Amino acid sequence: MRTKLLLGVSMAAAIAALGCEKKSEPPKPAPAPVAEVKAAPKPASDKTRLALFKPLPANFDSATNPGTDARVRLGHQLYFDARLSKSQQISCNSCHDLAKFGQDGEPTSPGHKGQRGGRNSPTTLNAAAHVKQFWDGRMDDVEAQAHGPVLNPGEMAMADGAAVEKVLASIPEYVKSFADAFPGDKKALSFDNAANAIAAFERKLVTPSRWDKFIAGDDAALSDDEKRGFDTFFEKGCFSCHNGVAVGGGSFQKLGAREPWPDQTSDLGRFAVTKNEADKLVFKVPSLRNITKTAPYFHDGKVASLDEAVRLMGKHQLGLALKDTEVTSIVAFLGALTGEVPADLAKVPELPKSSKTTPKADVN
Ligand code: HEC
Ligand code: HEC
Repeated sequence: MRTKLLLGVSMAAAIAALGCEKKSEPPKPAPAPVAEVKAAPKPASDKTRLALFKPLPANFDSATNPGTDARVRLGHQLYFDARLSKSQQISCNSCHDLAKFGQDGEPTSPGHKGQRGGRNSPTTLNAAAHVKQFWDGRMDDVEAQAHGPVLNPGEMAMADGAAVEKVLASIPEYVKSFADAFPGDKKALSFDNAANAIAAFERKLVTPSRWDKFIAGDDAALSDDEKRGFDTFFEKGCFSCHNGVAVGGGSFQKLGAREPWPDQTSDLGRFAVTKNEADKLVFKVPSLRNITKTAPYFHDGKVASLDEAVRLMGKHQLGLALKDTEVTSIVAFLGALTGEVPADLAKVPELPKSSKTTPKADVN
């Protein structure tokens, strides 16, 4: 599963070679005048460079968990429903706030009784595009992932799946909604199906941006600064890890690939999952979509500024001391990755009413 950086480099070589064969293409319109004329840069719209990225699809639908209207509607309610937590105060949206680009802006998030784990809450936006879920990839997909937080004692702290089912079954509208969302299932209302509905909802959390238009051929979708920023991002080698549909999310890489990361002990990343020595300090490469909106950064949320995050990436992942102007340029490009959060899905839904048998909140 782990793609070596080398692959990125040989990909770059292959792309450079491809570029040479493309000479017969009709000439592109002259690039906009640049203040500082240096060695003629390749236009950012160069197809061979853009081929490493892909526009977002309309959704990340799954054949085994189809996003029918009934299922997505139910998932939308469950994502926002704090009755899925022991204290009845915490929902998925508490830590993955869709009004804040799917995260909470905190280095680490307060869960049950305010406890904080060691990791930053990543955004749920476009998460279904990732090769695996979590910083260490310990879950395969959003379906498998959605079971975790509900039972995690530090997050939503429900005792077990049966306790979740008891809450849901006590709410008449949910009983009907589960039957509609999972027609044909002998036991439509189940903990598994609650996770499936939430996941079906997450598979619709797709945020198309100007970048998608640009890849699709609309050269005017990016400003000249952003195009130059893409060139810098590309030429410095960021693309070797951050590529594909999510501009990341596709592989696991060592944090400190070129120069050791300062914190070598607090979190060993994927090693905890595989127990493989080579996976120490290996983390999932995060998606850079909406990155200007999801500070603070890194698995521990310890870096508040995007400029600083980019500078650290240059140093530790590429062995480069990026100049301030290069950092600014890359950050300008990253701004073009900010997309539109689907407004109907980000909205707080109306939740079904509790009944007399709905268990009460338990904060202990
Ligand atoms: C108390 C805060 C908290 C709550 C509540 C919470 N999460 Fe998370 N979530 C996190 C943290 C922290 C991580 C990263 C943990 C890790 O990587 O080990 C995470 C990771 C994820 C990921 C993986 C994203 C990626 O890029 O790998 C998804 C998807 C997700 N959560 C969805 C949900 C859903 C769905 C719910 C509700 C059922 C939920 N979360 C509830 C804090 C929370
Ligand atoms: C060798 C692979 C690799 C290269 C090259 C690389 N990155 Fe990263 N990047 C990662 C990994 C892995 C992480 C997650 C690290 C962590 O938090 O544990 C990351 C995290 C980030 C983050 C923080 C994301 C978040 O959600 O917190 C940003 C921003 C970023 N990279 C930008 C860049 C830029 C810009 C470049 C080029 C200067 C670059 N990266 C080069 C692998 C790479």
